[in-house]
Amino acid sequence: MKILHVCSEVFPFLKTGGLADVTGALPEALTKLNTENKILVPGFPAFMNGLANKKLVANLGSKFTAENIEIYSGKLGNVDAYVINAPELYDRVGNPYSDSSGAAYVDNYRRFALLSWTAAKMVNGADDTWHPDVVHGHDWHAGLMPAYIKAHAIHYGGKQPKTVLTVHNLAYQGVFPAEIYHELELPQHFFGVDGMEFYGQVSFLKAGLFFADEITTVSPTYALEIQTEEQGCGLSGLLRARHSQLSGVLNGVDPQVWSPEQDNTIATKYSKNKLDGKKACRVALQKYTGLKLQDTSPIFVVVSRLTEQKGLHLVVEGIKTILERGGQIAILGSGEEPIESAFTHLAKQYPEHVAVQLGYDESHAHRLIAGGDVILVPSRFEPCGLTQLYGLAYGTLPLVHRVGGLRDTVTDTSLENLVDNIATGFVFNEFNVNDYNQAVKRAFALYSYSDGWSKVRSKGMSQSFSWDVAAEKYLEIYQR
Ligand code: ADP
Ligand code: GLC
Repeated sequence: MKILHVCSEVFPFLKTGGLADVTGALPEALTKLNTENKILVPGFPAFMNGLANKKLVANLGSKFTAENIEIYSGKLGNVDAYVINAPELYDRVGNPYSDSSGAAYVDNYRRFALLSWTAAKMVNGADDTWHPDVVHGHDWHAGLMPAYIKAHAIHYGGKQPKTVLTVHNLAYQGVFPAEIYHELELPQHFFGVDGMEFYGQVSFLKAGLFFADEITTVSPTYALEIQTEEQGCGLSGLLRARHSQLSGVLNGVDPQVWSPEQDNTIATKYSKNKLDGKKACRVALQKYTGLKLQDTSPIFVVVSRLTEQKGLHLVVEGIKTILERGGQIAILGSGEEPIESAFTHLAKQYPEHVAVQLGYDESHAHRLIAGGDVILVPSRFEPCGLTQLYGLAYGTLPLVHRVGGLRDTVTDTSLENLVDNIATGFVFNEFNVNDYNQAVKRAFALYSYSDGWSKVRSKGMSQSFSWDVAAEKYLEIYQR
């Protein structure tokens, strides 16, 4: 089987969040299952520069204000890739979606329409040497892909590949004014309630959810949650109608990037049975961040986009529960200004107990996850979440809200779960500071009982969230 993956981020070339970790790992895991995989990405500078063995395979002319669109093939890491060279649309500094001030590019609909339009071209002869059976798009950025492939079939006939759309986050939908619709050059009847119209606007994500043969999302619980009014972001009706083509496949962890045994970026490597290195990582973290050296209270860490989704106001509001008990907290993140300044303010007030680094820093993320005792992921909603999985692998117990993928991957340290030896972290039920604080208190209680802590940590480190398992599930979906 041949699969073309269509996406806008791929680790380690370009990453703004967990999407890149997924697209950086899934194609290789599928290749191990005797499938052929290629990825198609926009020609952002990171991809144009990262592409090895670059070869021009097609020239697609002009489209969406880009002149002379060229498709290069080559390798991004170990994976075969096509990169769309369209400098007018993609050769910009910074983030793939927004300018340096954080404002979304006004021509994003053209930039991502081109990605999906190109997918339809590539599977219809633009590269006559490779014909995928399945095209798998990720998030709204590739939402139009199933629509362009359907439209191609309507215009020209011919056998088309099957399409899969994975929703990594239903909150980001790629919604644009109706006036842009004609520029997309899709059939007029696609722009309706039964199609890609969303309250009078054009929704790229809805196009994918409506036209894809199969829909997936990144955890079983999130697959159920998005079918409810509360968490369906206006699309729950469509998702309920398509529930028999909707699956939740849990993300995995790439051990080449995230395992304490192999991690060259951390102070000392360690494993479940040899934990001295973790102590060294803990001290290294305290030294690096300027936190006071102490080992009597836990260090809480946060590695996160600082957005409303992530529930970090609970951490700010509940900070006293950590500080009054002598705990420490180290934060890495970037995002919304009020959350950034709330954390910066705390760090100024309590320099020996609160450390904040704003911005994106891959090696600091590893330092925190290796050196911390507890990783906080109190998200309001979380499709899957990866940092809690990295926490488990590194023996840094996750403290999470019982929602989405967090609920599917962390088992609370209740007394009965401790006795059954299934506890792996701390889970709070209600999204409020009271419940969150109770979980923080449970973390302190367990920390003071070192046998219990070791047992839970060891259980967490034995969990396996493997891309091999996820890849088998995707393969079943492709086969269907
Ligand atoms: P989301 O995709 O919603 O941001 P995930 O937990 O799925 O959440 O993935 C987040 C990914 O981004 C993880 O790999 C995490 O380590 C990384 N990350 C988040 N913020 C930062 C940051 N400021 N610096 C480095 N890595 C970060
Ligand atoms: C999204 C979600 C996150 C998920 C990631 C990768 O960014 O917010 O929960 O882990 O995609 O699938």
